[in-house]
Amino acid sequence: METPERSSLPCLFLPIRAKCGAILANQRGLAIPLANDNWSLPMDVLAFASRKGGSGKSTLTAHLAVHVHRPSRPCLLIDDDPQGSLTLWNELRGNDALPIKSVKRGIGDIIKKAKRNNVEWVFIDTAPNVSPSVIEAIEAATLVIIPCRPGLFDLDAVQETITYAREARTPYAVVFNAAPPKREDLESPAVTAARECLARLKVPVWGGQITHRAGFSLALNAGQGVKEYDADAGPTAEIARLWQAIDKSVKAIRGARAGTVMHCVAA
Ligand SMILES: Nc1ncnc2c1ncn2[C@@H]1O[C@H](COP(=O)(O)OP(=O)(O)O)[C@@H](O)[C@H]1O
Ligand SMILES: [Mg+2]
Repeated sequence: METPERSSLPCLFLPIRAKCGAILANQRGLAIPLANDNWSLPMDVLAFASRKGGSGKSTLTAHLAVHVHRPSRPCLLIDDDPQGSLTLWNELRGNDALPIKSVKRGIGDIIKKAKRNNVEWVFIDTAPNVSPSVIEAIEAATLVIIPCRPGLFDLDAVQETITYAREARTPYAVVFNAAPPKREDLESPAVTAARECLARLKVPVWGGQITHRAGFSLALNAGQGVKEYDADAGPTAEIARLWQAIDKSVKAIRGARAGTVMHCVAA
């Protein structure tokens, strides 16, 4: 398959080299690839990975899962971290628990079964390391989300995860999490510096940020996603914006894989 022109493959993240060799482009371009008939009931896998503990893997997995889950097209969670944070949170949900699997005999089998069961999204929350299980998750993913606090230690840690994603030829993007709040819509110097650092390494980064806000952890304590905890508040809007970007990126990746003709429409 030919590598499409950069400008013809839109996505909200900075350039991502996809498994098919395509380059997804344009942080702000909001074009969506043309759908085709083969798109009925697709299933995609997101792996949340970073060898840095505390970067926000479980937090983003939980809030995004609540955002996208629909009983008719479920979001299946895979807890691939022996610490079991996601499982603990899901147990607190009681009757509203999302479908969840822990990894016993490999991720591949779970994903195959999910496809047969009309699952729309599989979210894999991984352990803070680069064990074979994490690498399996990266290889199985449509897109790897790498949460990163905008600081030296996280920036250093994400590079190892990025190396594995690149080796697996899985598209990936860094998401700044627990970032200092914006002031008058200007991001903090810490986020700007972190962006500059990753831009030098040609790492795709989401243009937005998930701010450090109590709502993100308070909702988890209640076994909820921010959407359920306080639908009108800032955290819910940030998760919605992040989801929009992820969804567009996944569609662009699918389109690139299918060799779909893309049309770029300015935002
Ligand atoms: N955006 C955020 N705002 C406030 N607290 C956060 C945010 N992201 C993560 N946290 C908190 O930081 C801690 C570590 O996050 P967690 O998702 O468990 O990281 P990881 O899964 O990468 O180890 C948790 O207590 C979580 O509630
Ligand atoms: Mg975790």
